[in-house]
Amino acid sequence: MMMMMMMMSKSSMWRNAMFLVGFLCLLSLSHAELPPNYSFMKPATEAPPVSYYDYIIIGGGTAGCPLAATLSQTSRVLLLERGPAPYGNKNISNLGNFADTLSDTSPTSPSQRFISEDGVISARARVLGGGSCLNAGFYTRASPDYVRQVGWDGRLVNESYQWVEKVVAFEPPMLQWQSAVKDGLLEVGVNPYNGFTFDHMYGTKIGGTIFDKDGFRHTAADLLQYANPPMITVLLHATVSKILFRQKGRPRLMAHGVAFWDGAGVMHRAYLNKGSKNEIIVSAGALGSPQLLMLSGIGPKEHLQSFGINVLLDQPMVGQGMSDNPMNAIYIPSPLPVEISLIQVVGITEFDSYIEAASGSNFAGHSDQPSHFTPNLGMFSPQIGQLSKVPPGKRTPEAIAKAVEQMKSLEVSAFRGGFILEKIMGPVSTGHLELKNLNPYDNPLVTFNYFKEPEDLRRCVQGMEIIEKVIESKAFSKFRYPYISVEALINITVHFPVNLRPRHDNDSKSLEQFCKDTVMTIWHYHGGCHVGRVVDHDYKVLGVDALRIIDGSTLNYSPGTNPQATVMMLGRYMGMKIMSERLGKKE
Ligand SMILES: Cc1cc2nc3c(=O)[nH]c(=O)nc-3n(C[C@H](O)[C@H](O)[C@H](O)COP(=O)(O)OP(=O)(O)OC[C@H]3O[C@@H](n4cnc5c(N)ncnc54)[C@H](O)[C@@H]3O)c2cc1C
Ligand SMILES: *[C@@H]1O[C@H](CO)[C@@H](O)[C@H](O)[C@H]1NC(C)=O
Ligand SMILES: *[C@@H]1O[C@H](CO)[C@@H](O)[C@H](O)[C@H]1NC(C)=O
Ligand SMILES: *[C@@H]1O[C@H](CO)[C@@H](O)[C@H](O)[C@H]1NC(C)=O
Ligand SMILES: *[C@@H]1O[C@H](CO)[C@@H](O)[C@H](O)[C@H]1NC(C)=O
Ligand SMILES: *[C@@H]1O[C@H](CO)[C@@H](O)[C@H](O)[C@H]1NC(C)=O
Repeated sequence: MMMMMMMMSKSSMWRNAMFLVGFLCLLSLSHAELPPNYSFMKPATEAPPVSYYDYIIIGGGTAGCPLAATLSQTSRVLLLERGPAPYGNKNISNLGNFADTLSDTSPTSPSQRFISEDGVISARARVLGGGSCLNAGFYTRASPDYVRQVGWDGRLVNESYQWVEKVVAFEPPMLQWQSAVKDGLLEVGVNPYNGFTFDHMYGTKIGGTIFDKDGFRHTAADLLQYANPPMITVLLHATVSKILFRQKGRPRLMAHGVAFWDGAGVMHRAYLNKGSKNEIIVSAGALGSPQLLMLSGIGPKEHLQSFGINVLLDQPMVGQGMSDNPMNAIYIPSPLPVEISLIQVVGITEFDSYIEAASGSNFAGHSDQPSHFTPNLGMFSPQIGQLSKVPPGKRTPEAIAKAVEQMKSLEVSAFRGGFILEKIMGPVSTGHLELKNLNPYDNPLVTFNYFKEPEDLRRCVQGMEIIEKVIESKAFSKFRYPYISVEALINITVHFPVNLRPRHDNDSKSLEQFCKDTVMTIWHYHGGCHVGRVVDHDYKVLGVDALRIIDGSTLNYSPGTNPQATVMMLGRYMGMKIMSERLGKKE
């Protein structure tokens, strides 16, 4: 090996050739414009009524795909995903179409809208690849401190991140708007500059993205290219309604199968093969995993009984500890054209507020007035439920329709601009999740209690203060109409769906009230099956055999500035752990 490496470094021609071969391999592996025709992927209607596997994974999302790909190296794996494949859907693949999937509220949309009891409109994935098919693409790791606190093995964590990054992570092109935000952050003291890096460090950096240089999205579903085709089956439109347990004559509950509906409404069952190491793994996301546990009889006893569910295990912690990181933003209309960008730059402040930015609207290619088509504002479009102009709870379908109508009356120039946003770490505030009904296709009820804890509100206010300074920075001046003050920006009362600060006679200036009234989601909601409360440190469900939960529902705090890198990493990481346990290897 050593010899070979020396030989290689002697001959740069050889090295270049090897590089080219590697590069071409990677290209042919990951070029997703041609939909990968996974031989192991099929609609659930083609599944037999009953089948048997070593691992049954519920949810082909951000964690479920890397987990399934990894376990298929040595075991027979079934991956059940309630949605379709993402391939061939432009709304998913193209950066500029970000708002399209999220505004599609039909029952077949890859995005299922939900409204928290707090009144903030949000979305959950219903597609192979999960949230990575809907999200804004920002890719950034958790800090080594976070990894240490959770108790993960740092070396395997790093290897797992790299495994993910080889396929889905790219360096974003830095155009003018994102560059100005970066320079503005540095100018106002969010230092040092850490350049382009996946690492989480105080200061300002350019993070990774799952969009390639052509603005083409690569998702967790692409990680299935690592799978071992003869050992894995991926079923689409397979909605699990229940986990099945063996109970009689056993001291502990033991998971041994699942029941799922196919796209034609036919029920199928899948069971674990005989073998003490075989398991069901729930990766249905922060809403799906606690919901499915409850529907299967594991959860708070009285709550389950009120729905007539047969309680198999009284577990009051299922559904507790639900959190969503509040997002607040300011829109800055620009005299210059701006690029369409989703998140690329982040300022990681010492007070744990993360400053990010997005720009442009769907006007690229349109010279028309907005009245001739439906304009949107990407991550901040009323069509997707982001309506910061009215306080949470008042974001009714009528209010959304009105905001969309009003946008059509604006000049094209009003859409030239971008957003600087702020999300807070954690958050510290938590809420809970409950069933609404017994329908596995429906959303449960979820409450996040945004800003319930004063610490969260303080972080928001400090983040907003930094944003105000960035807008006023020299670096940012070319993107500002010189005659609009920051206060007026926050105050804008034109027919624009954002930034209108609802006026309270009592308190017209407080950023606290601004944070509360304009709170939106950045879709980083998590929790419901916390480590130490619902699962142990190996992600095994407490009090139950052969059942784990591996996804964002297990997270206490959202990792890094944005979670997807760590959720994908966790799928790979736990896949490696489970595989080596099975093979009896020590780490
Ligand atoms: C609009 C949006 C923007 C975001 N932006 C970013 C960003 O820029 N950067 C970032 O890092 N993070 C971002 N996130 C967050 C990130 O994408 C999520 O935290 C992450 O995808 C969650 O992964 P998960 O595996 O926990 O759940 P998911 O990826 O949601 O996976 C759960 C899967 O389970 C399936 N499922 C659920 N119930 C069942 C059932 N009963 N039977 C079968 N299948 C089921 C679902 O269809 C889904 O595919 C964003 C999220 C959204 C929605
Ligand atoms: C995809 O693969 C399946 C099974 O190998 C095959 O039947 C099908 O024709 C292929 N589809 C395309 C579009 O290549
Ligand atoms: C793309 O999004 C638009 C707007 O929401 C929707 O009408 C259309 O059906 C979507 N297309 C696909 C392929 O999902
Ligand atoms: C993992 O990588 C990070 C940088 O990304 C580094 O700071 C850390 O020390 C590494 N951890 C281990 C255990 O190698
Ligand atoms: C903001 O709005 C309030 C209430 O309408 C108004 O009194 C104030 O002058 C505005 N501030 C600016 C700078 O426009
Ligand atoms: C101001 O009034 C609003 C609406 O009536 C209320 O929600 C808010 O708590 C009040 N703020 C203060 C600081 O009293």
